[in-house]
Amino acid sequence: MRSVNLTKVVIPAAGLGTRFLPATKAMPKEMLPVVDRPAIQYVVEEAVSAGLTDVLMVTGRNKRPLEDHFDRAYELEDVLRAKGDTDRLSSVRTSSALASIHYVRQGDPRGLGHAVLCAELHVGREPFAVLLGDDLIDARDQVLPTMIDVQKRYGGSVLALMEVPPEQIHLYGCADVTATADPAVLRVTGLVEKPAPGAAPSNLAVIGRYVLAPEVFDELRSTPPGKGGEIQLTDALGTLLAKAPVHAVVFNGRRYDTGDRLTYLKAIVHLAGAHPELGEPFRAWLREQAPTLS
Ligand code: G1P
Repeated sequence: MRSVNLTKVVIPAAGLGTRFLPATKAMPKEMLPVVDRPAIQYVVEEAVSAGLTDVLMVTGRNKRPLEDHFDRAYELEDVLRAKGDTDRLSSVRTSSALASIHYVRQGDPRGLGHAVLCAELHVGREPFAVLLGDDLIDARDQVLPTMIDVQKRYGGSVLALMEVPPEQIHLYGCADVTATADPAVLRVTGLVEKPAPGAAPSNLAVIGRYVLAPEVFDELRSTPPGKGGEIQLTDALGTLLAKAPVHAVVFNGRRYDTGDRLTYLKAIVHLAGAHPELGEPFRAWLREQAPTLS
């Protein structure tokens, strides 16, 4: 099998963040802080640590702060340098030195599938990863390296699935699967975007990590609008799997959904509790507070 070095990652970041209004009225939802970094920085760091250093962000209007965050900030750096504040200086330089970051705009908000299609020119005809910014994967429980390895072994596309309680499956893409000779790898035989209660083929939810074959672009071009009137990536993968292999790995690690207010707060508590500097005092404070919360 032809093995291509995977280096490209697409991060769709054009969403309006309506679930977070008014916080996201003038600020992209990807810039909401999670402990001490904007949410999007965790996602870029995850990609880079898996060797994906060519990042394409699919953005839209009001997303300029994303570009600024991953760019140099000379004025700020000069001030910090003059003060001798080397720790903060290195923290502001980190995000601009992480990766080679490119941007393309998704003019019309026509859904996740359409956002991925906007990446076609940059990606070309090689496999690539897609990382959704609302899903933060705990750096201690990486899934991308496994997915990349499976893609190298089997070709085609690879999804990450997570078992969820049946009452939550309607919030996700849902996969029908069969076993392969490798107990850690499943073959995807069907996909349904956000199935109605009772219509889900399994309790395996598609999470926001994909390693995709470039043939997905051909499918996306002919995928009609689906759930919510949007062009769904799940639908394109559902037709692709009849023509080319789509495999999956099941992720059992820690994933934090920063996409809505309650789970965003939970993500902050988890990640603050694990923070090398803040974790210990934060956990002690939480323990103290627990009895007083009503
Ligand atoms: C998207 C995908 C869905 C997937 C989910 C993972 O939905 O369309 O298939 O399960 O991400 O987070 P969204 O959460 O953007 O509505």
